[in-house]
Amino acid sequence: MSVEHLEQVAANALRHISRNQAIKAYMQENALIHEVLLRAARRFIGGETLLECLETARALQAQGCVLTIDYMGENTRDEAMAQEATGEFLRVIHAISEQRLAATISLDLSHIGLALDAELALRNASSLAQAARAANTALMISMEGTERIDEIITLHRRLCEQYDNVGITLQAYLRRTTYDLASALQRPGRIRLVKGAYEEEPGAAEPRGEILDRGYRDFMEILLLSDHPCSLATHDLNLLNAAHRFIRRQELKRHPFEFEMLYGVTPERLQLVRERGYRTRVYLPYGREWYLYLCHRLAEYPPNIYQAIGDAVAMV
Ligand code: FDA
Repeated sequence: MSVEHLEQVAANALRHISRNQAIKAYMQENALIHEVLLRAARRFIGGETLLECLETARALQAQGCVLTIDYMGENTRDEAMAQEATGEFLRVIHAISEQRLAATISLDLSHIGLALDAELALRNASSLAQAARAANTALMISMEGTERIDEIITLHRRLCEQYDNVGITLQAYLRRTTYDLASALQRPGRIRLVKGAYEEEPGAAEPRGEILDRGYRDFMEILLLSDHPCSLATHDLNLLNAAHRFIRRQELKRHPFEFEMLYGVTPERLQLVRERGYRTRVYLPYGREWYLYLCHRLAEYPPNIYQAIGDAVAMV
């Protein structure tokens, strides 16, 4: 069995166990395991608290980064917790305004109530959009698993009837994105294009590979030619280079696009894009719900598993 094959097996196992609540609870209750995993997670998160995250944000801003801050969480099944999450996002917006951070916020609608009631999520998202507008900033809605997409797009549409500072994330691995992109282009708000991170049923989403990359490139070109604010959110060097060639060929220098990458992932590519003269943004998540996020980051790039083990060993 090759190393690549073994890495893939480990990555698939990680994807699988990341959703297992019993394993997650065990990891969180065992202080040593929790500490070890947190050490690995710190490469990818701004901290466990807003204070820690703001410290990281200020350091990144001093290096010239524009940010989007996410208080991590999803699938909130309890109304009080959805309200608590909304309150925390309001504190983030307040901090952005008070500390004059060049930052927006990013969130999962299921974190602020969508898993319970769409109207609750709409009320909470509206109050965040309003606060963000007063603070002269914006919010970006993340895209979740396929079972939620219709509701998320509907809520985005309803938010856009009142606010022009609410963006939406679209996933290139889904065929429906052709239609979702065409309709999102009719609404205000930045469109963030990602490949897609969820473990979908076989056939529901295009797996990593040439076909997906070609699809991403097609959507990217539509966005770049549209003059609509957009974020090209990928770390894929071939796609970053393809975007660069396309932008030069089309002479799109003043177009409202930006490149966005995850904190701690390929910072050298972010630097390269910045050196090419483009606006760049770093997605900076924080909070105590980092377990699933860490699993995603390790699974999508298996060599990170070695790095995580290294981080853990360095601690012992
Ligand atoms: P791909 O996964 O093919 O990776 C291309 C290359 O990038 C790899 O070969 C490697 O070199 C490098 N790389 C990628 N991930 C790495 C890692 N973890 N560590 C080190 N190197 C890595 N998804 C979703 O479904 N809904 C959402 O709302 C969002 N939101 C979002 C916001 C932002 C700002 C980003 C950048 C990404 C998301 N995603 C997301 C995640 C996205 O769907 C996707 O899973 C990751 O961005 C990885 O995909 P790439 O486009 O980088 O390509």
